[in-house]
Amino acid sequence: MTVADKVVLITGAARGLGLEYARFLGQAGARVVAGDVADCADAVQAAGNDAVGIRLDVTDIASADSMVELAMERFGRIDALINNAALYGSLRGGRFNQIAEADWDATMAVNVKGIWNCCKAVVPAMRQSGGGSIINIASLAATYGMPFALHYTTSKAAVIGLTRGLARELGRDNIRVNAVAPSAVMTEGTAEFFGDRLDRGLEVIRAGQTIQRTLEPSDLTGTIAWLISDGSSFVTGQTVAVDGGTVLL
Ligand SMILES: NC(=O)c1ccc[n+]([C@@H]2O[C@H](COP(=O)([O-])OP(=O)(O)OC[C@H]3O[C@@H](n4cnc5c(N)ncnc54)[C@H](O)[C@@H]3O)[C@@H](O)[C@H]2O)c1
Repeated sequence: MTVADKVVLITGAARGLGLEYARFLGQAGARVVAGDVADCADAVQAAGNDAVGIRLDVTDIASADSMVELAMERFGRIDALINNAALYGSLRGGRFNQIAEADWDATMAVNVKGIWNCCKAVVPAMRQSGGGSIINIASLAATYGMPFALHYTTSKAAVIGLTRGLARELGRDNIRVNAVAPSAVMTEGTAEFFGDRLDRGLEVIRAGQTIQRTLEPSDLTGTIAWLISDGSSFVTGQTVAVDGGTVLL
């Protein structure tokens, strides 16, 4: 099971989990293309190995196309796409009927349409490369049914549906599509999302887990690497929960 020399596109790579994926995969020998609306310099540096960064807005198909063009120019093929970009840390929670319509629409635009855009952009290049692996980052929010952030929960449930339908469409192209559903991981995004309820929130999440500790970013990298690698070549359409055994799928 190796990711060495695999060309991997990571969206939302400027910080948090995307940055961790860039670091881990680059150090494991992958060629990383890091995209984000924010600057990806840290990801490029962390990934090394000829990594390249690009300003990317996943809500804009032309921007997604530019990321793919950059990858093809630089590396000549694309093996994997990690659809990690999302509105998460910046979102405000609240009762379902108090979520601002603009926040609802923005969440769907980034978390759902953004993945659709990046998939549309990357699939022709993957077909050209003979196949590939698309990994969509969902969340325990969807598998558990997290309340008080219904825009986020709904968007992540849509990611799972998108994953299943697209996997069936792309199997004949040897393109696998899977989702990863993490529970709360200690990132800047999680600190922002929970605000002054962080300790209580993590305590409640931990209490629901089979394994009684908080997830760390490094807990996710093995699953991501496996889904990119040929070791998972017969796995598609699945949602892999990395949640310490909270929801048993
Ligand atoms: N941290 C967690 O506990 C947790 C748990 C489950 C799932 N997730 C998911 O994992 C992913 C990363 O989580 P995180 O904690 O690192 O989140 P984060 O909020 O820290 O990072 C998200 C990144 O996406 C980028 N982004 C936002 N809008 C964008 C756009 N339009 N185009 C391109 N990039 C854009 C942001 O700039 C940021 O760098 C997200 O999909 C999140 O929903 C996180």
